[in-house]
Amino acid sequence: MLNQFKGRLRRRYSPIIVFFLVSLCLWGNLRFSCTTAIVESAAHREPPPSAAATAPPPPEIRYVPSSYDWSLAKLWYPVQTMMSPPRGSLKRFPQVQSYGTLNADDLTIARQNQIRNAFIRSWNAYKAKAWGKDELAPLTETGKKTLNGWGAQIIDALDTLWIMDMKDDFNMAVRHIAMIDWAATKDHINVFEVTIRYLGGLISAYDLSGEQTLLYKAIELGDTLYAAFDTPNRLPPHWLDTYKAKNGQQEADTHMSGAAGGSLALEFTRLSQITGNAKYYDATERLKQFFHKNQNETQIPGLWPHTMNYQKEQMDKTMYTLGAGSDSMYEYLPKMHALLGGLDLEYEKMTVKALEAARDNLLFRPMSPNDENLLLVGKAAVNKNKVVELAPEMEHLACFAGGMYALAGKLLDRGHFVDLGSRLTRGCIWAYDSFETNLMPEIAEVVACESRHNPCPYDPNALPSGTAKNLPAGFVRVRDTSYRLRPEAVESVFYMWRITGDRKWREAAWRMWEGISRETETEIAYATVDDVRYRGSPHLDSMETFWMGETLKYLYLTFSQHHVISLDDWVFNTEAHPFKRPGR
Ligand SMILES: *[C@@H]1O[C@H](CO)[C@@H](O)[C@H](O)[C@H]1NC(C)=O
Repeated sequence: MLNQFKGRLRRRYSPIIVFFLVSLCLWGNLRFSCTTAIVESAAHREPPPSAAATAPPPPEIRYVPSSYDWSLAKLWYPVQTMMSPPRGSLKRFPQVQSYGTLNADDLTIARQNQIRNAFIRSWNAYKAKAWGKDELAPLTETGKKTLNGWGAQIIDALDTLWIMDMKDDFNMAVRHIAMIDWAATKDHINVFEVTIRYLGGLISAYDLSGEQTLLYKAIELGDTLYAAFDTPNRLPPHWLDTYKAKNGQQEADTHMSGAAGGSLALEFTRLSQITGNAKYYDATERLKQFFHKNQNETQIPGLWPHTMNYQKEQMDKTMYTLGAGSDSMYEYLPKMHALLGGLDLEYEKMTVKALEAARDNLLFRPMSPNDENLLLVGKAAVNKNKVVELAPEMEHLACFAGGMYALAGKLLDRGHFVDLGSRLTRGCIWAYDSFETNLMPEIAEVVACESRHNPCPYDPNALPSGTAKNLPAGFVRVRDTSYRLRPEAVESVFYMWRITGDRKWREAAWRMWEGISRETETEIAYATVDDVRYRGSPHLDSMETFWMGETLKYLYLTFSQHHVISLDDWVFNTEAHPFKRPGR
């Protein structure tokens, strides 16, 4: 039973209580103890019902609410009828992971330690050179502001600190987070990035640790992001402009990616489940209805175009991909099905329809030297004659697809999807193994076989004219030579390992790790590689927060015991932040 949905927040009363306490303190002139009382009161405002049973924040944590409380802001376009997460008895999902006798051997433990040490090294560098900033600049050894300056790296790495058992650093991070002021930013707020990195990071760390302070900060941030939905049709724009939001001037965008709107549902739904406040779920459920209504009406039925008109609610564009701009919109379909306990059948249907349409229109078999049975994700454009044209381009971002198909295959009991997931994951492993750096470039072109079913012997004459020289066999061009510390390939390997228990996946993860650690290491941390075609390539001054939030976490979990963040108990958001599945 989803009894965590019951109950209501009582946030509204807390300012009155604080005002009362302040008056009392001024009158009684008891400053010290009163300051403590006010902070304590603020910290204890609106205990969410499901969390009430867990311990209150430790007294040494000084919780300071944000300077603007969005839960009290005027709504210009309030919803007519608030939708709540579906209730009922949870579906019994098939088991996702294969368990069995997987004892930790010395080699596995040593490998896991190496990965943990790389995390510690990265974290210590961030602490020393960039603490409180959004990112570490790993070459100039300073901090960067890339995401509103609230310290994105701290929150993005928070659950990894917990999982890797770095509790002192976790507590230090919580003390910092307890004082974040979400209203102290002059920049517009990127709804998608802030949701997946900050809100997802807070929710996950709360789910893992039960630390109340994190929940309070998640609610404050959730209320801030909720303001983005205050538009005439209740669909959010890409950027939350707080001035517009406060003045009723917000509208949805006419060109926005599918992922920007389609990758908010896990975070908002989980926040509703934890707090019992349905409004977050209601907000993203309206996005889902927009996608659901149009899924069969697009130029490639089953798929959603790369960008769409959220304002006029139209989807007539002709570009289709599972890569940048679309990726997590698809990823969230099976994951939402799991997070809602299988109680929303629309998610199941949308998943099947989308993954079948993507299979038939976007997946292709690349011509590879040993004619391996691989798959990659291409890009499709619908031309004037309504013919779908596939560009055989591989994108690192699309390497998540193997894990998505495999997970969906397990949850929905479709072995065929698991097989596709395996072939897709092997496609990305092939790309990594092909280069002497053991790294895959950000974007490359290859040759598509006639069919994804039939053998496709390697034929150098099949390479198009203009094929670049000195590339690994099968590659036509490398459009973007960088490796940006991205997680998607190791993410899919992690899924395949947990789902099958076949050791070849761990070996593949280790080969990736050897390439990654060798090529990205800098004096103090790790950095983007400029050109994966050559060993010892120069670095770029970037270490995005997903390095510690995702890449190192998935690698670490690949060398963990199966029960550590089991896929039967947890569902990861697109920034690798695990949320508790209902009933677990
Ligand atoms: C889309 O088509 C599928 C069958 O392919 C159907 O089950 C589903 O209900 C349709 N969706 C809508 C919104 O009509």
